[in-house]
Amino acid sequence: MKTLASRHSFKRKILVTGGAGFIASSLAEELAADPDNLVIVMYNLSTGHYKKLPPLADNLRFVKGDVNDYKEIMEVMLSFQFHYVFHYAAVVGVKRTQENPVSVLKDIRGIENICRIGKNTGVRRLFFASSSEVYG
Ligand SMILES: NC(=O)c1ccc[n+]([C@@H]2O[C@H](COP(=O)([O-])OP(=O)(O)OC[C@H]3O[C@@H](n4cnc5c(N)ncnc54)[C@H](O)[C@@H]3O)[C@@H](O)[C@H]2O)c1
Repeated sequence: MKTLASRHSFKRKILVTGGAGFIASSLAEELAADPDNLVIVMYNLSTGHYKKLPPLADNLRFVKGDVNDYKEIMEVMLSFQFHYVFHYAAVVGVKRTQENPVSVLKDIRGIENICRIGKNTGVRRLFFASSSEVYG
């Protein structure tokens, strides 16, 4: 993983979480259109689908893993030393969240992990999508 980042001198190294999902897959594709960006997409397939992943490119790579798992996200963030993080990995949908309230609460770990590791690995800015559940 590290070799990719060190082989090229990308101006911006960007982590996009939840990349097999609705918003993050489009965002990652758009970010990768700029060759100065290295885009790493972290995803799991709890929802979403391989087909939704953005097209592979020289500056876009996938890492399968769980953002809520400290060790998994730490390995990725330590390897790449991202400048920016877009955090979209979450359990989404009113029905799904009502049926799995505990898994929703576990997502708090994801943002906690990213904040904690980001602070120590030089992340300049974190973009957090809040939750669509605020709409009720
Ligand atoms: N869609 C909206 O209108 C809207 C509005 C405001 C906020 N948001 C928020 O934006 C985020 C993304 O929304 P979306 O509509 O693209 O959802 P989505 O369900 O399409 O995508 C979320 C992706 O995250 C993945 N994921 C879930 N938990 C994960 C984990 N622990 N580690 C790694 N990947 C994980 C899922 O597999 C899925 O592919 C959510 O937090 C949502 O609440 C969405």
